[in-house]
Amino acid sequence: MSSGEQAPLLNGASEHAQQQEATHKRAKRVASGLLLLLFIGGLVVALWVFEDGLPSNPGKAARKILDRAPVIDGHIDLPILVRSLNGNNIDKVDLNGDFPGHVDIPRLRKGRVGGFFWSVYTSCEDSGVNFTSPTNSVRDTLEQIDVARLLIEKHSKTFSFATSVQDIKLAIFSKKIAGMLGIEGAHQIGNSIPALRQFYALGVRYMTLTHSCHNAFADSAGIFEPPAPVHGGLSALGVELVREMNRLGMLVDLSHVADSTARHALKVSRAPVIWSHSSARAVHDVPRNVPDDILKLLGKGKGKKDGVVMVNFAPFFVAAPGNATVEAVADHVDHIGNVAGRKHVGIGSDFDGINDVPVGLEDVSKYPDLFAELYKRGWTARDLVGLAGGNLLRVWEGVEAVARELQERGERPSMARYDKREDLPHEEL
Ligand SMILES: *[C@@H]1O[C@H](CO)[C@@H](O)[C@H](O)[C@H]1NC(C)=O
Ligand SMILES: *[C@@H]1O[C@H](CO)[C@@H](O)[C@H](O)[C@H]1NC(C)=O
Ligand SMILES: [Zn+2]
Repeated sequence: MSSGEQAPLLNGASEHAQQQEATHKRAKRVASGLLLLLFIGGLVVALWVFEDGLPSNPGKAARKILDRAPVIDGHIDLPILVRSLNGNNIDKVDLNGDFPGHVDIPRLRKGRVGGFFWSVYTSCEDSGVNFTSPTNSVRDTLEQIDVARLLIEKHSKTFSFATSVQDIKLAIFSKKIAGMLGIEGAHQIGNSIPALRQFYALGVRYMTLTHSCHNAFADSAGIFEPPAPVHGGLSALGVELVREMNRLGMLVDLSHVADSTARHALKVSRAPVIWSHSSARAVHDVPRNVPDDILKLLGKGKGKKDGVVMVNFAPFFVAAPGNATVEAVADHVDHIGNVAGRKHVGIGSDFDGINDVPVGLEDVSKYPDLFAELYKRGWTARDLVGLAGGNLLRVWEGVEAVARELQERGERPSMARYDKREDLPHEEL
């Protein structure tokens, strides 16, 4: 549970209760701080052990590394699968046994998974040329958040709901699988920045700026061909959206967006960014993959920004038909490692959101085989700890630090409204 969610309940509570709550929180912070020190200490020790003590068998080495630093996947579509298979009725879902698709608890354990983003995706329905036609996107997004949170709660021996880097580290430390929420397209917030703030309060921690359609904030990459641009990147409201995401501490996700949007967002974002599920365009040329000139904008130094590209396993993004294999996915990881640096790659499988899978990466139990392939290619324990989740956690800590700073500086919540809406009076930005 997050303190952010509890905060609104404190309004109107007695002073005494507030004091008790403060003492309780302080005690909790001290306790978790100690646990974290132990955990981080454990990682350092692990790296020491690795340097001279890793098995020569790549499969064994990969598993040993992932036992210490498990996989944190940026994009898993389990919630939408539960919607289509079970109408979101969690009484009919038992993830402790064999569950259809690519994800269940036995396979997550076999795959050394320490956390993943539950995508609370809903499709982008037609909202008209001005994005003002009513849709069910906000309702359906709430339903997907509900089903994800209920499933996390139902399997609370395994999953632990996480809304911060510290939550994730504590979950992994206690051998649980952290569950985070990500929204896949700003159509899902009804083109409304106030709605974004409320989704943050519900625990959502990333939002992809678009899905496969344009919206009021930004242009999309489409699916097969980039559609004709409407904004040429971010709209003025989109720039406001990114700034508000920075203030809140919501990760800006650039998967699915047009290249123009990615470049624009990298320029205006005051915090690091992610690609929750995208691969490398130079390896396989589809619009959903990230081109080299954008990969080169990641890192430290002038004109660069920290970020992580979490590689997508969808065969259509990985290779020509019939050629998507675990080795081909490793080619994407390798390429991003070469162009952006190995500190800027992660895993964003898209499992349960894809119909086909690469040979050798059939479900969440197979991640260690990808790590074994990279180990064979000379990726060190340190590189692989970063790929598994360390790079994402570094980027996310950067986002948290920026949000803290902006809030301490007193930056106000954005009052920007979409100017094509006629239901609400607004002033010019
Ligand atoms: C879209 O907005 C423009 C003005 O911004 C307006 O002229 C046009 O009629 C709108 N179209 C629809 C279908 O609402
Ligand atoms: C698929 O892989 C095979 C073997 O590496 C290669 O010969 C073939 O050209 C590839 N097909 C395409 C369309 O790239
Ligand atoms: Zn997607």
